[in-house]
Amino acid sequence: MENEQIISIVSGLPYPCVAISMRDFERILCANPEAKAFLGDGIEGRHFYTVFRQPTMIEAIEGAIKSGERKNARVTISENRRDAFYDATCINIAGQYCLVTFQDRSDQEQIQQMRRDFVANVSHELKSPLAALMGFIETLRTVAKDDLKAQERFLGIMESEAQRMNRLVNDLLSLSQVEATARQRPTENIDLHGLIEQTVDILLPAAKARDVVVNFVKQANTVITVKGDSDQLHQVFNNLIENAIKYGAQGGNVTVTLSQPGYLPALRSEGIEVTVSDDGPGIDPVHLPRLAERFYRIDSHRSRQMGGTGLGLAIVKHIISRHRGRLMVDSVMGQGSNFRVLLPYDISIRAKRNDVS
Ligand SMILES: Nc1ncnc2c1ncn2[C@@H]1O[C@H](COP(=O)(O)OP(=O)(O)OP(=O)(O)O)[C@@H](O)[C@H]1O
Ligand SMILES: [Mg+2]
Repeated sequence: MENEQIISIVSGLPYPCVAISMRDFERILCANPEAKAFLGDGIEGRHFYTVFRQPTMIEAIEGAIKSGERKNARVTISENRRDAFYDATCINIAGQYCLVTFQDRSDQEQIQQMRRDFVANVSHELKSPLAALMGFIETLRTVAKDDLKAQERFLGIMESEAQRMNRLVNDLLSLSQVEATARQRPTENIDLHGLIEQTVDILLPAAKARDVVVNFVKQANTVITVKGDSDQLHQVFNNLIENAIKYGAQGGNVTVTLSQPGYLPALRSEGIEVTVSDDGPGIDPVHLPRLAERFYRIDSHRSRQMGGTGLGLAIVKHIISRHRGRLMVDSVMGQGSNFRVLLPYDISIRAKRNDVS
C-alpha cells in the first residue's frame, strides 16, 4: 500500500483519524482536520510518542503495531477549557500503517454524569427527612415513651417530614411523566383565563398566610385559548405563582398578567404571554442560567424550610418545552422578579430552543 492511498483515506474520513507509518520509524504520516482540531497542527513527521502522551493510548498503538490486532483506548483530551472524552481505535493495516480513529463520546459521558448527579441528589434529598423520622421513632420508643406532650410535638414534626418525602416523590413522578409525554403534542383547547383564575384561587390560602395580594390582570371580554395539556399548564402557573408568593416579599404583591402580544419573535409565531411578577428581593443574575436545573435552589435552607423540593422550575421548563413555548426570567435585585411564559397558539411550529437551562 502506498502513502498516498492512506493519506486520501484519512483525509476522506468524517471523524478524527491519524495514520502512523511503521515503515518510517512509527512517525505520524498524516492526520485529517478533525484530528488536528484537538491534536494541533504540525503533528506530521513526529513520533507518535510525542503526540499521544497518555499511557493507555501508547499501549493501544503499540499493541496494534506488535500484535496486528485491533486495540481500543479511552482518552480524555483537554479542549478549550473543557475535557472531551474519546474512544480511540487503533488498527494495523497490512503491517505497514497504524490507523488511529477517534469517536467523541463527551455527550454520553455528560448524560451519564447527569444521571449520577440526579441519583445522588435524590438520595441526598430523601436522606434527611428519613433520618429525622428514624430519630423521632427511636425517641418515641425510649425517652419520650411516657411524655404525651412531647409525643404530640414529635408526631407533628414526623408528619411534616413525611409530607416532604411525599412531595418529593410526587414531583419526581411528575417530572418523569412530563418527560414521557415530551414528544406527544398536547391536543386540548385550554381557556387560559379560567385555568389561571382557578390556579390563583387554589393558592389564595398560601398567599394569605404570607399576607400577599395576588392580582390577576386579564384582557376583558376576550377568550384566550391555546392548545395544551390542562393539568400540565395548571402545574406551570401553580409553581410560578407559588414561587412568587413564597420567595417574593412578605405582605407584597404578586401580579399575573395574561396578554396577547400577537407575533412573538422569540417563538417565531403568534402566541400568548403570561407574566408572573413579584416585588420581592429579586434573583441575582448569576443564578438565572441555572434556575431551572433540577434541585437548584438559591437559598436551599430557606427553600427546604418552605417545603420546596427544588424541582418546580425543572418541571415548568419541561412542560413549556413540550408546548413549544419558552420560559424567560428577568429580575432586578431589590425590586422583584418577572417570570414570562410564552406559548404559541399553534404548537406544530417548532420554536428555537434555549433560555433558562
Ligand atoms: N419569584 C422568585 N423570587 C426569588 N427566587 C425565586 C423565585 N422563584 C424561584 N426562586 C428561586 O428558585 C429556586 C428554584 O425554584 P423551584 O420552584 O424550582 O424550587 P422550589 O420552589 O424550591 O421547590 P418546589 O417548587 O419543588 O416546591 C427556589 O428555591 C428559589 O430560590
Ligand atoms: Mg417552586
